[in-house]
Parts: sequence; C-alpha cells; structure tokens
Amino acid sequence: WKPEIKRQSKPPLNTIINTFDFEAIAERTVTPKTWAFYSSAATDLLSMKLNKKAFDQVLFRPRVMRNNESADTRTKILGFDTGVPFFIAPTAMQGMVNLDGEKAMAKGAREENVIQIISTNSSHPIADIVSSGKGPQKQTHFLQLYVNTDRQKTAQLLASAKACGLRAVFVTVDAHLAGKREADERLKVDVPVKSAVSGAISHNDEKGGGIGRLMGLYVDRTLNWEDIPWIKSVAGDLPIVLKGIQTAADAKLAVKYGVQGIVLSNHGGRSLDTSPPALYTLLEIHKIYPEVFNSLEVYIDGGIRRGTDIFKALCLGATAVGIGRPYLYALNYGAEGVAHLTQILKDELETTMRMCGVRDLSGVHPGLINTRKIDA
Ligand code: FNR
Repeated sequence: WKPEIKRQSKPPLNTIINTFDFEAIAERTVTPKTWAFYSSAATDLLSMKLNKKAFDQVLFRPRVMRNNESADTRTKILGFDTGVPFFIAPTAMQGMVNLDGEKAMAKGAREENVIQIISTNSSHPIADIVSSGKGPQKQTHFLQLYVNTDRQKTAQLLASAKACGLRAVFVTVDAHLAGKREADERLKVDVPVKSAVSGAISHNDEKGGGIGRLMGLYVDRTLNWEDIPWIKSVAGDLPIVLKGIQTAADAKLAVKYGVQGIVLSNHGGRSLDTSPPALYTLLEIHKIYPEVFNSLEVYIDGGIRRGTDIFKALCLGATAVGIGRPYLYALNYGAEGVAHLTQILKDELETTMRMCGVRDLSGVHPGLINTRKIDA
C-alpha cells in the first residue's frame, strides 16, 4: 500500500497550537479515503458531535489563592506510571496517515511518557511497535482486543501480546457490529488495506468501501458476560478492562464480573448513533451506583479535545481519559507531531489545574465543576 501524493503541503509543526489545528490540516493533507475513515462516525454523527458538546456544557467552580506556582500531571493507570492522565486510545490502521503508523505513535508517546493502546487492527506487528518505542525509560503499552470468532486466534494474540510485554487488555464491547459510517462506505479504497495484527483486509464489495465494516468481519458477535472467565483465562495475569460501557447497569455488571477497569465510550460516535456521550454515563454512575468507583478504574473517551475537557472528566472520578482522533491527526506529522500534541494537552491541563487551585491530581473532586446544564 502506498499513500497518495499529499493534496497540500503542511504548515510547520510549531505553528500548531491546539487539537483543532491538527484536525484542519489533516482534512486538507491526508488522502480522501484516510480522512473518510478517520473522521467518519455512525449515520447522522449525533453522538460524535454531542461528545464534545457535553464537555462544553460543564462549567468550572475555580478555587483561588491556592499557591499554584506549578501543577503536576503525573498519575498511574492500572498501577503503571504515566506522565499525564490521558492515554492514546486504540485506533485502527494508523499506517494510513503515516507509513510508520503505530511505530511512530510509540516513539512520540515515549517522549512524554504517555501510555499507548495498540489496536487489534494495527497496521504494524505488535513486536515492531513495542521495539520502536524502546528507549532509556520504560514505556507502557496495552492491547485493545477484538475477540475473534476463531477463539484460538484470540488466545494466540494474547500470548504474543504478553510475550511483547504488553501490560493490560482492553476488550472492546461496543463494536461487535460495525456502525453505519456513510462517509467511509461511500468512498472506495484505492488499494486494499491490511492489518498486520488481525490479518483483516479491507477491499471494496457490493455494499461499498467501508474500512470499518470490512475490517470488523472477524469480530465475534456472540460475545457476552459469560465469556469473561475465558478471556481472563487466556489473559493470565494481565488486567482486563472493558471498553465501550454505556450505562451504569453495565458498569455494575463489570464490577460483578471482576474486571479491573472500564472505558465509558461510544467509540467516538462510530458505533451506534445517539448512544450517550461518556460524560453522561459517568454522571449516571455517580447517581445510581457510585460504589463502582471504589471497585475498579473508570476511564472515559470521546470528544476530548482540550485540557479543560480532561480536567472535567477527572473531577468526575475518571482515572484517565482516552484521546482518539487527535492523535491520528497528529501522526500526520510523525512521532514529533505525537509528542507535540501531548505537550499541548499537558500544557492546557496544567493551566486548568492551576486556575482551579489544584496542584496535583490527588486534588481533583466534583466540587470543582458545575454539571447542572447536563444533569438529567
Ligand atoms: C477508533 N476506535 C477504535 N476502538 C477500538 O476499540 N478499536 C479500534 O480498532 C478502534 N479503531 C478506531 C479507528 C478510528 C479511525 C477511530 C477514529 C476510532 C475508537 C477509539 O478507541 C475511541 O473510542 C474514540 O476514537 C474516542 O473518540 P475521539 O477521541 O476520536 O473523539
């Protein structure tokens, strides 16, 4: 597979000051098919748009006079150190925006000590991704798992992920079917794209060219709660996180089934349109089953574009948040773009913390925000 010639040249990286700059530049410089696959969401894009809007409707209740000379963004995710309370969400086929794909993502992530979650539909083999991120300091990677209809393949994938040093398994539970992503479907793929990890291939068929749909054909539609003991048995000592929880009731079930974490997510609005933004689900858990927060780690993703968004999620009890599309658009600039995006978000988060009177992440709490506009 070869990328098309870029449609326009890119401005220098140092002129980019926020996630939206990266997005606008990606729209006019990556190939039309890459843009369609990355930016698209299910049907009317309502969940995707609401994801960001939900954050915009939460206001701060800043505390002043707190000696905020600096702010410390370090924390732990599942016990692993990270420089920031956000991680690189798993996104498929990163080789479509940059030939080095997940390998360049790993390099950029290492620069700022960000945890990278590697998709089952990665362009590059896991071993290559992990080794290209290697450096003097230790880097943490997790695996995102799509359970295969051929369970043997899933068992093999987990064994090789463990051998490569991956530290946790994020099982995606909201994409057993592909969402109807019309922009992706309408635009045919020029050349088939293939994942080096799952082996899934996307070429056009009678329905269209939807990479999301075609690369998800191997995913087990029968997956259910009773499969969790099996997943645990093949994951061994790796912690299990369920990605794609959308109700407090399922969050409670996740506790019952003994997983170590959940990602509240609607898959960036790509799976079921009008599914709730993660922020709504977070509030619902607070209202109905707040004890969930004592039993496992809760992460959220979808629409997080600013340091203020990250801080709001943390105030509401999230241990960390996932960033999806912005990292894909930053990868348009290779590893340097990835590091640059992390610095931008970290800097925005530090500013927010200091303005709210918080010195380190042990100081976040719901009293620092006002959710009245989105409280149901
Ligand atoms: C995704 N996402 C995703 N999730 C997952 O569990 N496995 C995957 O392979 C992918 N692939 C993927 C590809 C692309 C192009 C996108 C945009 C997203 C979903 C991802 O992990 C995350 O939930 C959302 O991207 C979060 O929303 P934002 O940050 O993109 O708004």
